[in-house]
Amino acid sequence: MGEQVDLLRALPKTKRNISAREEAKDPEVVRISKEYGEMYFDGPRDYGYGGYKYDGRWVPVAHDIIAHFGLKPGSRVLDVGCAKGYLVKDLLDALPGLEVFGLDISEYALMHCHPDVIGRLHLGSADHLPFPDGSFDCVISLDTVHNLPRERACKALQEIQRLSGGRAFVRVDSYLTPEQKAVFESWVLTAEFHDYPEGWLALFSEAGYTGDYNWTIIS
Ligand SMILES: C[S@@+](CC[C@H](N)C(=O)[O-])C[C@H]1O[C@@H](n2cnc3c(N)ncnc32)[C@H](O)[C@@H]1O
Repeated sequence: MGEQVDLLRALPKTKRNISAREEAKDPEVVRISKEYGEMYFDGPRDYGYGGYKYDGRWVPVAHDIIAHFGLKPGSRVLDVGCAKGYLVKDLLDALPGLEVFGLDISEYALMHCHPDVIGRLHLGSADHLPFPDGSFDCVISLDTVHNLPRERACKALQEIQRLSGGRAFVRVDSYLTPEQKAVFESWVLTAEFHDYPEGWLALFSEAGYTGDYNWTIIS
């Protein structure tokens, strides 16, 4: 079994004071967000990111990932749910000779990727990774696996395991208390499966996923 590790500890901490949403979410906003198109990445904040731009925030995270997995020039890394490829770029820059690739379901994100990663990003879904068994030295997936319903999330974890042999890290939506769960449920846009850590650990075990993990918790 993998271990819980905060590989994103170097990201700037956003000071948020989140309470439950007062009004009900508009189902049309949820539907459009789940298309992972322009509205999700670069539309108004209600639909997702409200502008997904490169700002270098992943640079120290890339160094931490390389150190954690002991990656060397020539090692092959896949970022599942890579969006516009910002982490792919920062991993490439952090260790010359590292072979880094990404995969995402969003054609919009790939068509608006960082210029340094053109040709390295694949269009596809996390539950069907078009690569041979054991083809990567490390597979990362940040805030993506929870966007599939439970059965497909299980398949995505099996796919990550198949490519990486467990040299992997996933971060997924979770909560530790009923209060956190209520706040999460009032804000969530795209997640199809989410649970307390025990529920995720049960899914990891069901999938045979032995990589590392951490939770994204709104607080
Ligand atoms: C919250 S964003 C995370 C992006 C990036 N990993 C990050 O941390 O900044 C979720 C990403 O998952 C992608 N996504 C959603 N469903 C997916 C699927 N079934 N397979 C692959 N990517 C998916 C979306 O297009 C989006 O880029």
